Amino acid sequence: MALFSKKSIPQLISESEEGADTLKRTLGVGALVALGIGVIIGAGLFSITGLAAGYNAGPAVTIAFLIAALGCAFAGLCYAEFASMIPVAGSAYTYSYATMGEFIAWIIGWDLVLEYSVGAATVAISWSRYLKKFLHGIGIQIPDAWVMSPFDTVTLADGSVVHGIMNFPAVMIVVLMSLLLIKGTQESSFVNNIIVALKIMVVLLFIGLGWSYINPQNYVPYIPENTGVFGEFGWSGIARAAGIIFFAYIGFDAVSTAAQEAKNPKRDMPIGILLSLAICTVLYVLFAHVMTGLANYKEFQGQDGIAPVAVAVEHTPFKWLNQAIILAILAGYSSVIMVLLMGQTRVFYSMSKDGLLPDFFSHVHKRFKTPHRSNLFFMIFVSLFAAFVPARVVGEMTSIGTLFAFILVCIGVLVMRKTMPDAPRSFKTPLVPLVPILGILTCAAMMISLPLDTWIRLVVWMAIGILLYFAYSRKHSKMNK
Ligand code: ALA
Repeated sequence: MALFSKKSIPQLISESEEGADTLKRTLGVGALVALGIGVIIGAGLFSITGLAAGYNAGPAVTIAFLIAALGCAFAGLCYAEFASMIPVAGSAYTYSYATMGEFIAWIIGWDLVLEYSVGAATVAISWSRYLKKFLHGIGIQIPDAWVMSPFDTVTLADGSVVHGIMNFPAVMIVVLMSLLLIKGTQESSFVNNIIVALKIMVVLLFIGLGWSYINPQNYVPYIPENTGVFGEFGWSGIARAAGIIFFAYIGFDAVSTAAQEAKNPKRDMPIGILLSLAICTVLYVLFAHVMTGLANYKEFQGQDGIAPVAVAVEHTPFKWLNQAIILAILAGYSSVIMVLLMGQTRVFYSMSKDGLLPDFFSHVHKRFKTPHRSNLFFMIFVSLFAAFVPARVVGEMTSIGTLFAFILVCIGVLVMRKTMPDAPRSFKTPLVPLVPILGILTCAAMMISLPLDTWIRLVVWMAIGILLYFAYSRKHSKMNK
């Protein structure tokens, strides 16, 4: 059954150790957690929290954060087992090639485009909203039409309605980060640590300073009554909000991609994954609590909801801090966009090496040693999304795609326990099959709560992927030759 041919684990590990550029094992727990937080905290917190509060959950967005964290923790425990068993660079794609065969691996690799590329576009769009706010603060106005997709409108104070043309700044940041990646600017861990410190500082500052200006009236009612439509407030709204702000946790799986560089992957991978998750959960819940306490959730509706921190800070005497906070957020986003774009090219690099995609994606620049063609390709691809698709659409596509990948990873652990019970694993997911099953159920529940149009997009995207597999990848697969 060529469709289900698998790579063996020793083969994977030896492939990863071939050649001059094997990776050095330098990362300890601290560095892994910093890496995790560096990718995790971004548009999900600083942007999507506003939309989820404004349209779905109100102040109860805090409960949504807890539900999403639960799903991530279960999936994270499954990721950790894979990462300790197959400690090679790569991600869910590589794991599934070893456990569930080529076709499922293809499905995951194709699906990860939603997590990485569409995710990068989402962060870029949020970046553009904060840039607009920042420039506004220093007296420079970007016309609204150029910071919105053609599907967005905004009503001005005079009642006139502006239609979007394209989101120009979002394209700019994608191009900039792609060019940096091509040049191979390895984000030194020093720069990453500064950005991580900056992000945590902004979050703590916001919580600390905002806390005493909370207006308890804004929490009444804590769970706004459902409007009669599924997903708009009430408990179904909380469920949908969980599916949407799940975006904020995306990235902890990136820690698992560094397994090959971890000093002691057995012990440190699970700690790195779970600790970064735990820290983010606490920060997120407190942050959302203060945010919806400072401003009424209704204020986060509309285009302003994409930059909710700026809205909330207006309710404190610290308006002057707004500019500094926005600047830190802008810097913080750049590392998220960069890591997502890099993750994308890495996954396609592996798929191309395996013959499932054309050589184009694994061609490496002679001098820069980076997959520059792939970088340019995704620069254009991601830019198109960032320019012309609304924030909500790309955000939800990212969430649904990633949730789907998490479910496949949870299934992978169950399959692996059956098919390779004796393979050495330095970390074992506890309480199998309970934890993977709970992971599948929680992630599936969040998926189900997402709107129908998002589901249709997922199905269309996956259908295109399956067509490509049978038209191209299956015939060119190196495993099948
Ligand atoms: N979790 C990352 C963010 O929120 C992707 O930006």
